[in-house]
Amino acid sequence: MTKITAAITAVNGYVPPKVLTNKDLEKMVDTNDEWIVSRTGIKERRILAEGLGTSDMAVEAVNGLLKKRGINATDIDLIIFCTVTPDMVFPSSACILADKIGATNAFGYDLGAACSGFLFGLETGSRFIQSGAYKKVLVVGGDKMSSIIDYTERNTCVIFGDGCGCVLLEPNEEGLGLVDSVLKVDGSGRHFLHQKAGGSIKPASHETVDAREHFVYQEGQTVFKFAVRGMADVSAEIMERNNLTADDVAWLVPHQANLRIIDATANRMGLDKEKVMINIDHFGNTTNGTLPLLLWEWENKLKKGDNLVLAAFGGGFTWGAIYLKWAY
Ligand code: UT7
Repeated sequence: MTKITAAITAVNGYVPPKVLTNKDLEKMVDTNDEWIVSRTGIKERRILAEGLGTSDMAVEAVNGLLKKRGINATDIDLIIFCTVTPDMVFPSSACILADKIGATNAFGYDLGAACSGFLFGLETGSRFIQSGAYKKVLVVGGDKMSSIIDYTERNTCVIFGDGCGCVLLEPNEEGLGLVDSVLKVDGSGRHFLHQKAGGSIKPASHETVDAREHFVYQEGQTVFKFAVRGMADVSAEIMERNNLTADDVAWLVPHQANLRIIDATANRMGLDKEKVMINIDHFGNTTNGTLPLLLWEWENKLKKGDNLVLAAFGGGFTWGAIYLKWAY
């Protein structure tokens, strides 16, 4: 019997039109363009309008994907919505998205793994395809980070942006699609990157709002150290166990948290800069959006059979790498 793999058969993305430049941030906090570019690689990021949620970006991205693939929303079996900024605590953004696009035959759920969410979503979605249970799985990764960023706090506000991307997973019998994954969590890292209030331990109150505890809290240097090692380690591991040399890898698709972390990962893999997808300069860190947005922007350069390594590191800590063969 032919082995069924899960392949990406379509990709799309959406970023809101409003641009927030480093110059704009200079007027909001004590920072400057030179510091932001040299320490992170970011020049500008997008900001979603007030009153709109992450699902609104997903609607744009998914409707475009359905059109590209020539299918209807009713053809979708499953929606996995990877996000840390769902429209509401409940119901899930997957439910809201399904309603907004008319995916009346799908079930779905949200997946929370911070910046590694899209990787975990890809792995999970691919298992439903491999098992033969479903034929069309939509994996969405997106965040309205501006809804949880403190724009008076220069350590974090310069890094993040809003955006959303999505891919369709379908069965493949040519050996293309997801080949292998290395995925990890270490919850002891939660102290260094989290949102203090709004969960069940510390529900929202006047005090939590006054203490600005509904925003991202990050101990940047500590996260940086773990991220540099974590992302490089799993990327090297996935190459090694699949006997991939640097020449075999067509593209590294790395989470966009900091250009210095991306460079370290590429160096460890022995990859030239030309093989590394980078959009941090114009989108910043869109959390769950980074990987699908990269695939969307690079879609025209990808060739059937290309070996891609996707890698990410984020809050939790969560991290991992996926090796896949591009299918079209
Ligand atoms: O995606 C999820 C996972 N997240 C990450 O992977 C993020 C990992 N961390 C980082 O990318 C970096 O740690 C940051 C970009 C967040 C910060 O860069 P850094 O090189 O680690 O800076 P730092 O925190 O060590 O701060 C260095 C200096 C400090 O000043 P002093 O104490 O040396 O005088 C900061 O106060 O830079 C100062 N600083 C700033 N200066 C201008 C911090 N933020 C800013 C700013 N503008 N926006």
